[in-house]
Amino acid sequence: MDKLEVFGARKLKGSVRISGSKNAALPILAASILSNQKIILKNLPNVKDIETMIKLLESIGSVIKYSKKKNSVIIKNKNKLKTFASYNLVKTMRAGILVLGPMLARYGNAKVSTPGGCSIGVRPIDIHLKSLAKLGVNYKIVDGYVYAHSKKKLKGAKIRFPKISVGATENLIIASSMAAGTTVLSNCAIEPEIKDLVNFINCIGGKIKWIGKRTLRIHGVNYFKENEYSIMPDRIEAGTYLIAAAVTEGDLKILGINPNIIKTEIDILKKIGLKIKTEKEIIKILGNKNIKNINLKTSPYPGFPTDLQAQLMVLLCKSKKISIISEEIFENRFMHVAELNRMGAKIKTKGNKAFIEGNTNFRAAELMATDLRASVSLILAALTAKGKTTINRIYHLDRGYEQIEKKLRKIGANIRRVS
Ligand code: EPZ
Repeated sequence: MDKLEVFGARKLKGSVRISGSKNAALPILAASILSNQKIILKNLPNVKDIETMIKLLESIGSVIKYSKKKNSVIIKNKNKLKTFASYNLVKTMRAGILVLGPMLARYGNAKVSTPGGCSIGVRPIDIHLKSLAKLGVNYKIVDGYVYAHSKKKLKGAKIRFPKISVGATENLIIASSMAAGTTVLSNCAIEPEIKDLVNFINCIGGKIKWIGKRTLRIHGVNYFKENEYSIMPDRIEAGTYLIAAAVTEGDLKILGINPNIIKTEIDILKKIGLKIKTEKEIIKILGNKNIKNINLKTSPYPGFPTDLQAQLMVLLCKSKKISIISEEIFENRFMHVAELNRMGAKIKTKGNKAFIEGNTNFRAAELMATDLRASVSLILAALTAKGKTTINRIYHLDRGYEQIEKKLRKIGANIRRVS
């Protein structure tokens, strides 16, 4: 098992280029099942979850040419694909459930493993299933698999999501893109990654339009055309590097992302005292000693993203006063707290609230990573701690951060991977 060794108390300086977004690429890869024409995807991040999704597509018969060097894939789904997604592929990457919608849209049946829980929560799919049922899908869950089928071609419907869900919105966008007639989806999640999915499906011939802030109108089509598409940059990776610069009192330039898609994060960092300047595709951040405290709730876009909650918590440990973070999205997303406290943080949790005392000088320690974003928060703390911190189980990290130690070394961190 690989582990990372970080020799801290170094300021991060220089510039870092943001990779393609894992959470945009995953639904777009799943949506490729809809089409029997060639699809070229560019700016894919080389991370484990993308490899797993590509393995999943190959397991159902997709013909895929994956070039890691060029961060691109060429996908050809000419022949009839299998409509089965196995547990061993879906269990490590919950986005595997996103193949359910396209399989039903194109073939009218699917047997897909339920995602199963993970360290941040139960990860239910009830909204996915109940919404697909409104398009004419019958389903049952037996032995951890969703058995779904529709007697006829999926039929468009008016669907209002009972709760904002990124995955359910994505599954329904993909499924209704090939349903007969028109579908109207309301109370949609509107993360930038969802807009990227809509742009991708439209670029291969879909007919999807935003007709309200959280409302989509989708005219189903029968065929798609060949095209190529470049995945948007990863806003959570960008936010992570902004916080890394802030917590190490560094001076960093983030390249390759439109600052508008992380406006909320930038506004929060400015509110707690960071100096941030933005240009077209560049964000400059200057860290400083005076981090102000803040009370913050995570919420669906355009609110503060739950995927940056652990990272921000590390920065708030540097404030001189108490901060409170309420995690409103997932029921168990404070796994990083115990490890941060072992490094000298003073954080107490009560239900979905974390009380961060601040005034923390992190101490180096031997740590255990738990989930993708918690793992990176341990690195951020280790970057500020004198001495050697070891982080175990970094396979969690490799799911969602491309070449993180290489990118960090390039901006001054002393970090290495030990196999
Ligand atoms: C997506 O997960 C992201 N994953 C998550 O990123 C992200 O944290 C999350 O959206 C919220 O922004 C990908 O895009 C691959 P949800 P998803 O459906 O779709 C409940 C990362 O670190 N819910 O918006 O699973 C659910 O339990 C990952 O990259 C239901 O109750 O999130 C949660 O409490 C972690 N029933 C809330 O909704 C359902 O059918 C939001 O979940 C579906 C969800």
